[in-house]
Amino acid sequence: MTRLPKHIAIIMDGNGRWAKDQGQDRLFGHYHGVVSVRKIVEAATEIGIQYLTLYAFSTENWDRPEAEVTGLMTLFVDTIAKEVPDLHKNNIKLQFIGNLNMLPDHAKKALADATTQTAQNTGLTLVIALSYSGRWELIEATKSIAQKVKNGELAVEAINEEVFAENLATKGIPDPELMIRTSGECRISNFLLFQLAYAEFYFTETRWPEFRKEHLVEALLQYQSRERRFGKTSAQVQ
Ligand code: FPP
Repeated sequence: MTRLPKHIAIIMDGNGRWAKDQGQDRLFGHYHGVVSVRKIVEAATEIGIQYLTLYAFSTENWDRPEAEVTGLMTLFVDTIAKEVPDLHKNNIKLQFIGNLNMLPDHAKKALADATTQTAQNTGLTLVIALSYSGRWELIEATKSIAQKVKNGELAVEAINEEVFAENLATKGIPDPELMIRTSGECRISNFLLFQLAYAEFYFTETRWPEFRKEHLVEALLQYQSRERRFGKTSAQVQ
């Protein structure tokens, strides 16, 4: 308990394959994925994790079949609206990162309401990446920095890692120390490209609809067994 990551990021993958294996529609997998979200949020709160970022929908996911995209949007909006009272009761703060302008108006409103309602909470910060991609975020940060330079608010020489981080969607949130991806894929798929620079990666065959607290604990134990050197030698960090 003394060596827990402050921030865990998760790529929730494998809903579609899990559903297909049972002869079901892909959306069936996403509905079961929501159960895992609830269980992992509960577990993270119980364990004392401060930040949990979930990759719910990437910029690239907009290219999926229309029925799946519409079904996922409905699922996000309904789940968020339904869960906010419980999240609030548990002192959880909700935040959304991504190109939210691409969302339908009713979804934008539901997310804005959930953010406002939980803004003062001091427990777990639950960050949902929606319509998100790391490259989009890096380009937005670059534009925002360029604009500040153009306005004379920022000197080119003053741009450093901290300034760059302050212009990302995750402003104020520490970088994840642990990134988990479910369902056997070993890539980061445009997720938190700047922030994951020194994260430990944990890949598991378990598909997201089956991911539970014990799987999270397994990932944490694996994380704790690793030596994080940040470019130094083993002797230096010991
Ligand atoms: C990846 O599996 C999963 C998604 C693209 C959607 C994830 C969304 C949820 C789990 C619902 C979360 C809800 C809230 C409120 C945050 P996939 O479809 O890529 O699966 P596959 O790789 O097996 O096809």
